[in-house]
Amino acid sequence: MTNNKYTVTAALPYANGPLHLGHVAGVYLPADIFVRFLKSKGHDVAFVCGSDEHGAAITLRAKKEGVSPKEIVDKYHTVLKNAFERFDIQFDIFHRTSEAIHYETAQDFFKKLLENDHFTVQESEQFYDEKFEQFLADRYVTGECPHCHNPNAYGDQCEKCGASLSPTDLINPKSTLSGESPVLKSTQHWYLPMQNHEAWLKDWMQKGELDGQPHHDPKMWRNQVVGQCMSWIDGGLHPRAMTRDLDWGVPVPLEGADGKVLYVWLDAPIGYISATKQWALDNQKDWKEYWTGDRKLVHFIGKDNIVFHTIIFPIILKAYGGLILPDNVPASEFLNLEGDKFSTSRNWAVWLHEYLERYPEKVDELKYTLTAIAPESKDAEFTWKEFQARVNNELADVLGNFINRALVLTQKYYNGAVPPLNELTASDKEVIEKIKGTPDKVADLLYRYKIREAQAEVMQLARIGNKYLADNEPWKLIKTDENRVATIMHIALQLTTNLAGLLAPFLPKSAQQIASFLQIDHNNWNRLGNMNLLAEGHLTSKPTILFSKIEDDFVEKEQALLFANKMETTISASQEKAPIKDDIDFEHFTQLDLRLAKIIHAEKVKKADKLLQLTVDTGIDTRTIVSGIAAHYSPEEIVGKTVMVLLNLAPRKIRGINSEGMVLMAEDAAGNLSFMTPEKSFNPGDSIR
Ligand code: MF3
Ligand code: ZN
Repeated sequence: MTNNKYTVTAALPYANGPLHLGHVAGVYLPADIFVRFLKSKGHDVAFVCGSDEHGAAITLRAKKEGVSPKEIVDKYHTVLKNAFERFDIQFDIFHRTSEAIHYETAQDFFKKLLENDHFTVQESEQFYDEKFEQFLADRYVTGECPHCHNPNAYGDQCEKCGASLSPTDLINPKSTLSGESPVLKSTQHWYLPMQNHEAWLKDWMQKGELDGQPHHDPKMWRNQVVGQCMSWIDGGLHPRAMTRDLDWGVPVPLEGADGKVLYVWLDAPIGYISATKQWALDNQKDWKEYWTGDRKLVHFIGKDNIVFHTIIFPIILKAYGGLILPDNVPASEFLNLEGDKFSTSRNWAVWLHEYLERYPEKVDELKYTLTAIAPESKDAEFTWKEFQARVNNELADVLGNFINRALVLTQKYYNGAVPPLNELTASDKEVIEKIKGTPDKVADLLYRYKIREAQAEVMQLARIGNKYLADNEPWKLIKTDENRVATIMHIALQLTTNLAGLLAPFLPKSAQQIASFLQIDHNNWNRLGNMNLLAEGHLTSKPTILFSKIEDDFVEKEQALLFANKMETTISASQEKAPIKDDIDFEHFTQLDLRLAKIIHAEKVKKADKLLQLTVDTGIDTRTIVSGIAAHYSPEEIVGKTVMVLLNLAPRKIRGINSEGMVLMAEDAAGNLSFMTPEKSFNPGDSIR
């Protein structure tokens, strides 16, 4: 195996909010495991990340919180950085895109691409908010999606159907600043003519070739990554604007380009390079070493970032010249939570920093579960029940139990000293073969980004160890065959030592703990797979419990917390009242025939659980109205009530019943309905005006 060098990146999270478990499971945890493994294997690696501090994601958040964008990024940069530290994600640097070194780097890219004719300048009409005197890029416009008719699609993307959009594609566009319809205004931008790059991108993607030379092994890429990328290319690439009219971002470094900044998806990935530069400065290294020559570049991302890392950024890297292109882009699918999608707006999420505040001691338990269910090739789901089961049945009952037994018995029989290895039985030999074979098997899976399977393989060895002790029952044998017990315990201890090394990338804290029980240094993968990691007579120490069990009330508490958060958000979101509708004139208002009517009969509509069929006395006639209130009122409780009705709504057939008019209801934030009954005792037919 050649000793490849690596530069590994993890998607720069937007500094506009905290991280939830979906981000962690899909991007940061697998990246961290991969890098810890590479380092333990002796590869030369740089692992960079940082906050993505530009773009509408930031400015819109600032507007919502009523503070400056700078305040937002400062606040969340710290939140993100602390959460990563406490979760033991060990970047070599966690940088930020608001640093001067990043501005210089991103502007250098822009200038170099411009000089080398990689941009075209185009004048175009773009939406403009006259009230705020601002162009409306991307998320500054919302409207109806032309594909799925979701009324709340954004100018760059519809989150309902996933379509990627331009602001002018939207039906009925509205400015998110003023809420008004934008006007079109002409403006000039720099575009990346992506269509010029189709040919080499195809060869690179499909054959793994670059400039006619082998570049990477295309079979190592995940299907869905190649698939998404190729479907973009096959759909035809188009020029994409690399600048925006905004006052937040990296300024376009040209005379006369006032008020223009680099597109966030141009500047953010360059953030990987500026982060490397800063890290190199801090550690007396040369950043170019990490972005040129014979080195593998690996981007860990979520699936919504695929095109940016497999098409746009590679074009930019190649156009800049002399820089390496990704060797792989292991993008993850999505993680769901307790049967529903993670959603920031509905607060349906487990936030990493909050979890760590509640359970600072349960870092590896969470890491283990998230890796065990990692959404590598398909969407996956996190539930607290599964967390409990993984911790109790796997970490505590298998791994923890085995290690505890091995070390406790060693204390008891040998005062902690490793006993000798005597004659071997067939079953001993089998276990030894497993110890020898596991490290390469796990390494092979990790090199192929199959991190979930790799962890399962390590656990398999723990299972074998646990079963080995249970089957051989040294605690019984000790009375009759001390020689045999020595061999069993020797093997169990060598297995434990191998486990410490194998677990280190996945569960660094626990691996460190096991290593300290054993009094060994465990962080060298190349020594693993051996039966001589512990010398006979080496002194081990007394263990403590590695994993405590998760009780049912823990699960109940966490589930309740999720639902409570969601409730709270629903209520506070609905306090943001719907905007006031457009004016109507008095004439239109008087056309509504609003009156009081008395309900004289009510019954359920068959096979329609939401509907009641009402007979009402309007003071003029008796008529039938079908009303969608069955979830809120029973037929019995409403007979005799005087309510507000709209009489001249054109009759409609509802479930075959002719409904003549509409009962008016008030609706609260939670969707509860109430009749509009007069406060004094008025009569059917009395008018409302
Ligand atoms: N901030 C982006 C997101 O959260 C990811 C940026 S990745 C980078 O989706 F390449 F641009 F850095
Ligand atoms: Zn849509």
